[in-house]
Amino acid sequence: MASSTKKDPNDKSYVRAMFDEISSRYDFLNHSLSCFQDILWRRACCKEIRRELAKDAVRREGNCCDGKRRDRERRDGKRRDRERRGRLLDLCGGTGDFAVTYEKFNGPQERAVLGDFSYGMLKGAEGKKTSAAPVQLDAMKMPFGEATFDVVLNGFGMRNVPDAAGALRESARVLDVGGYLQILEFFSPRNAFNKFFYKVLAPLFIPVMGAFFSKRDAYEYLVNSVLNFLSVEDFVKLAEENGFELVHVKPCFWGVAYRVLLKKRAV
Ligand SMILES: C[S@@+](CC[C@H](N)C(=O)[O-])C[C@H]1O[C@@H](n2cnc3c(N)ncnc32)[C@H](O)[C@@H]1O
Repeated sequence: MASSTKKDPNDKSYVRAMFDEISSRYDFLNHSLSCFQDILWRRACCKEIRRELAKDAVRREGNCCDGKRRDRERRDGKRRDRERRGRLLDLCGGTGDFAVTYEKFNGPQERAVLGDFSYGMLKGAEGKKTSAAPVQLDAMKMPFGEATFDVVLNGFGMRNVPDAAGALRESARVLDVGGYLQILEFFSPRNAFNKFFYKVLAPLFIPVMGAFFSKRDAYEYLVNSVLNFLSVEDFVKLAEENGFELVHVKPCFWGVAYRVLLKKRAV
């Protein structure tokens, strides 16, 4: 296993080695540091996508005219719904919890991929209840053609890539028009509660927990990566400049994290 000797968080090999090193304790610390809230946040994301897909299906039905054509388009609509639900990418998917949750709420997928550049993290998904095939990849340059997926999930990954705009463009490229990109992320704090949480509380307890159960460096990196990341408002602007329209932004636990649902715009 690679060792994280270089400590530049902008260096992809440093980030990958760090996730390789913490992969065996990742799920445990993820759930305990968030007091199991991360599970509820992923669930909320998956239910929200389900609602949007259902609304899209109704809109398509409403747009048809009458008689035979309506029946035909309804049939096509149903087929398209099946296709839409069937192509999922859990990007920066790590140990696969987002894909597992997605399939729990949206049914088994015809095609599902768990994409991550850390072999250790992907190994952590072994034995979990998902049909997603693990693929070791770089979120900045994926081995997929245009419009390959209908839904891309990205849970706590955007903060870790060297260029969020590039990762957004790459996600837009692999998504079909009208497809969804669901971001679940910790953004740079803007309100007083979150500034206090990330600048005072988190640096006190997160690295200590990390040192005890896993690696201190990695959990210091976690806190710093949040402080150095974009605010949610700036992230949404960036997404709008890079191929997406905003569906909604929802705070989780008073803005400790956010669920940002984006839809790929037609060009
Ligand atoms: C904080 S973990 C999130 C894992 C999972 N999505 C979750 O919800 O718990 C971030 C993941 O992003 C992956 N990652 C970071 N940069 C990446 C890149 N450029 N390409 C692919 N994966 C990347 C890491 O290996 C790690 O597994």
